Amino acid sequence: MAFISDRMARIKPSPTMAMTARAAELRAEGRDVISLSAGEPDFDTPVHIREAAKAAIDAGHTRYTVVDGMPSLKRAIAAKFARENGLDYAPAQITVGTGGKQILFNALMATLDQGDEVIVPAPYWVSYPDMVLLAGGRPVVIECGIEHGFRLTPDALEAAITPRTKWLILNSPSNPSGAGYSRARIQALSDVLLRHPHVWILSDDIYEHLVFDGFEFATPAQVEPRLKNRILTMNGVSKSYAMTGWRIGYGAGPESLIRAMAKLQSQSTSNPCSISQHAAEAAL
Ligand SMILES: Cc1ncc(COP(=O)(O)O)c(C=O)c1O
Repeated sequence: MAFISDRMARIKPSPTMAMTARAAELRAEGRDVISLSAGEPDFDTPVHIREAAKAAIDAGHTRYTVVDGMPSLKRAIAAKFARENGLDYAPAQITVGTGGKQILFNALMATLDQGDEVIVPAPYWVSYPDMVLLAGGRPVVIECGIEHGFRLTPDALEAAITPRTKWLILNSPSNPSGAGYSRARIQALSDVLLRHPHVWILSDDIYEHLVFDGFEFATPAQVEPRLKNRILTMNGVSKSYAMTGWRIGYGAGPESLIRAMAKLQSQSTSNPCSISQHAAEAAL
């Protein structure tokens, strides 16, 4: 009997993290390295956010908080959704974790049973399939070629859906391709999903603010409100506010899903860093 679980054999270490570590090693040896690995903004965390963190330490905000986020931070996140996305989420529909990564992980762990399928358009961010596998699910990778601008088409989505499909993971703008989905493209995918009420959308909006050439960001819950009760809208402060090391991400969706994700977090990491939560509140 092997001591390390079969579960661990199903996944590989994050290649991005390995590349980042290797680049740091080479830099330490004095080599001039341009690392195209982890998505790190090219500016520092803004001063007012850093000051908010220092003030939080001095004010003694150094203890456990509510498992999935302080009420004041959830209110700030609700205000962000209303202000930037025209989305109305109550604090009870919002959950905060240790990075967007934990939000995705919690969502998949809280919903997938053995053999459940998750549609992952390729090229994809390296962690999606491994997270699905860890949770016992089956990643269904759809190749989205250059002829479609590396975007999932409605026909390809329709063809990939089976009775076992639980989620479509949609990442716009996408890591690694940079492809973004316009409102019209999101609407076309939504029209497919309206015909398949058992499929939910996990919308990874982490690169919302990193858009170019006049591209207008849109998110599925805003584009098709009839799908809102089966969408988890995920975002975080890592990329928008250059806070990758602070580890704060959040998700918003139906209360039953949010409660299941918080239950999982209560038995794993508990609350995200209290000081980072205060910093994120200042950012948002
Ligand atoms: C597409 C995508 N989603 C989610 C994340 C997770 O970001 P974090 O956990 O720092 O919030 C990343 C990080 O690189 C990413 O590229």
